[in-house]
Amino acid sequence: MINLSNDEIAKLFEGKDAWHTNEIKDKNIPSLTLADGPNGLRIEEGSELGFSSSKKANAYPVASCIANSFDEDLMYEYGEYLANECLKENVDILLGPGINHKRSPIGGRNFEYLSEDPILTGKLASAYIKGVQSKDIGVCLKHYACNSCEMGRMVSNSIIDTRTLNEIYLRAFDYVIKESKPYAIMNSYNLINGIYSCENKELMDHAKNIGFDGIFISDWGGVNDPVNSFKASLNLQMPGGNLHSSSRIIKAINNKEVDKNILDDYSKRFNDLINKTKNKKSNNYDEDKQLGFILKAAEESVVLLENKDNILPLNLKQSIKVYGPYAKYPRFTGAGSSNVNAIHSDNLLENLDKNNIKYTYNSEFKLDDISNNDIALVILALDKGKESEGFDRSDMYLQANQVEFINELSNITNNIIVILQVGSPVSLPFKDKIKGLIYMSFAGCESGKCLFDILYGKVNPSGKLAETWPIKLEDNPSYNFFNKDLRYTVYKETILTGYRYYDYFNIPINYSFGYGLSYTSFKYSNFKIKKLKDNLIINLDITNLGKYNGKEIIEIYSSLNNSKIFRENKKLIGFKKVYVPKGKTTNNEIIIPIDTLSYFDIKLNEYSIEEGTYTIMIASNINDIKYSKDINIKGNIKPYSLIKKSYFKCKDSLNVSDEDYKKIYGKEFKYDYKLVPFTSNTVLKELNQTKFGSKVYRFIMFVIRHMKTNGLNESTIDEAPIRQLLWFSKANNDTVDVLVDYLNNHSLIKFIKVIRTLNK
Ligand code: BGC
Repeated sequence: MINLSNDEIAKLFEGKDAWHTNEIKDKNIPSLTLADGPNGLRIEEGSELGFSSSKKANAYPVASCIANSFDEDLMYEYGEYLANECLKENVDILLGPGINHKRSPIGGRNFEYLSEDPILTGKLASAYIKGVQSKDIGVCLKHYACNSCEMGRMVSNSIIDTRTLNEIYLRAFDYVIKESKPYAIMNSYNLINGIYSCENKELMDHAKNIGFDGIFISDWGGVNDPVNSFKASLNLQMPGGNLHSSSRIIKAINNKEVDKNILDDYSKRFNDLINKTKNKKSNNYDEDKQLGFILKAAEESVVLLENKDNILPLNLKQSIKVYGPYAKYPRFTGAGSSNVNAIHSDNLLENLDKNNIKYTYNSEFKLDDISNNDIALVILALDKGKESEGFDRSDMYLQANQVEFINELSNITNNIIVILQVGSPVSLPFKDKIKGLIYMSFAGCESGKCLFDILYGKVNPSGKLAETWPIKLEDNPSYNFFNKDLRYTVYKETILTGYRYYDYFNIPINYSFGYGLSYTSFKYSNFKIKKLKDNLIINLDITNLGKYNGKEIIEIYSSLNNSKIFRENKKLIGFKKVYVPKGKTTNNEIIIPIDTLSYFDIKLNEYSIEEGTYTIMIASNINDIKYSKDINIKGNIKPYSLIKKSYFKCKDSLNVSDEDYKKIYGKEFKYDYKLVPFTSNTVLKELNQTKFGSKVYRFIMFVIRHMKTNGLNESTIDEAPIRQLLWFSKANNDTVDVLVDYLNNHSLIKFIKVIRTLNK
């Protein structure tokens, strides 16, 4: 182990620049390279502000696409292929995957996140991380924690009760930390119960207590106070370079403000990281193989949502009419830090050409000479700037002209197939007017071939939805509590999030969690279940009854009738994707740890299993239970009575008063944010609310607008706290302090001080 002096620790705490850690030459500690991200490398080039200027790389299907594969083996391979990209580009730590819980369909980063179920998220992410780390490339798991909404993301306080926090929002993180041992965790921007994630010792201790032995890295610009973050055990502040955080850390150490354990722990974690990253596997990068995998990953993940009259698969000899710009310019990658500047991307039209399909193409959503019974293929998507980090969507609507076009089209032909290239659920007012519906999400740079293969039956669709598609936004349980306030987001829907809520209250939906069709059909039979030590062993046969070879995702749910605590009706406890050739039957064993039946007990502050008779269901989706069996489980504690009956009253949408939520939360919470005096966390648009502040606001916005702000949405900037100006300029911690001082006590002398620190 290399002994690190306090000065060296302080130096390592701040990044060297936006993408590297500092090196300590005398001690042979190299500078490590970090890069985005979860769906292909984003290595920034140049120094422009924003997200779009990066080195060309391969674009993989995004999380909201691959999650629909429900396939852990595929995720492991995905990780291995991404690691090849890292090896080629000398990246040591990959920033991703993002495993935040999908709380609302309008969450800006939903396309980057996997699911509304923590077990599914945890298992898929673990496999991905194991794949990446099998090649000695480190993974930085993000964004820890409760960063499910983007509105005011750098100042928003997630007010969340202990049970919901653990059972829903931390469960995937817990699983991943234990199972796949990520090298790093990225602390999110937001506050959790009043404390910034980067300063949230309790949250970081939670990860350490369950075995996390890596380093904690701030999200880019996520450090509110470097000293407090250091004291809480954050290990790396990013981006760094000119912040002057080290001098503040040294001062705090010299003043004996820092616990010795923090310093020892720091050394140990950094040493471990250097050891883990120093020997890389050799690079066996082969461009054709990488692209071959990207295609396979997409094809395993596409979800067939409608196939009335078996309109699909299409016949190669049929002539079709294709509409919309996305047939030529597909939406295939993420945005913001997930935006991959693709080396290459294909499209549907070139694949139709290659296969000599007869078709006409209209790049606009406009009627042409289409006639009765023609097959119309329409690809719909949202505008590129609508789905990204930094802001949430305001609604679930597709663009009105796209919806109108489908309506007009449906007056002429019944044979409409809609393809959706969106990152999360949208409303589907035309659902009854179309015959085919395919959900692709952003399927990577081979999305054109993937779509062709699905449309023409070269590949039998096998994806299922990793999140529910509600009919309208108002049906979502977080509707009244999400994206309503810049400063606070209260998790009043508690554990009844996603399908847990729709299922509990029987809310009509468009497509349920776990739903997806195939070109063949499957029969479930011979369901058996037994207990063996700490596991449930499930056995069942699946028969492929149709004309196509196919894959089926078997889903296992559990419920406990007469439970003494408040809980969901059904929850996912396991799944398995199996291949069944046409006409054949396969026997399948699924092993489920009994621990998945547990709930988080706030009195014991740990997971517990309630004793009782559990119903275990095998299902094709949450609303299509094939068989169920009861099994007695001996619990490990006497459950306390959280709240026997739900405290929800669900009429049109979930409405919960602060007073009611406080009973669950267990203590007071207040919306007591004060606009003045300004602090480093005042967001730019709040400055606008005072006379003097508005002048400064206009000046700052003027400067920012004249900088290149590639890919940064205006509301991202508008909702950025003053301290984030560090990101936008060459300012440092001191500049922010003097700027805030000037804002509160404006005088010429203070103004001169600001200018002086800027020039330091
Ligand atoms: C995002 C992270 C990303 C980082 C670096 C931040 O804005 O929240 O997910 O890894 O930027 O690009």
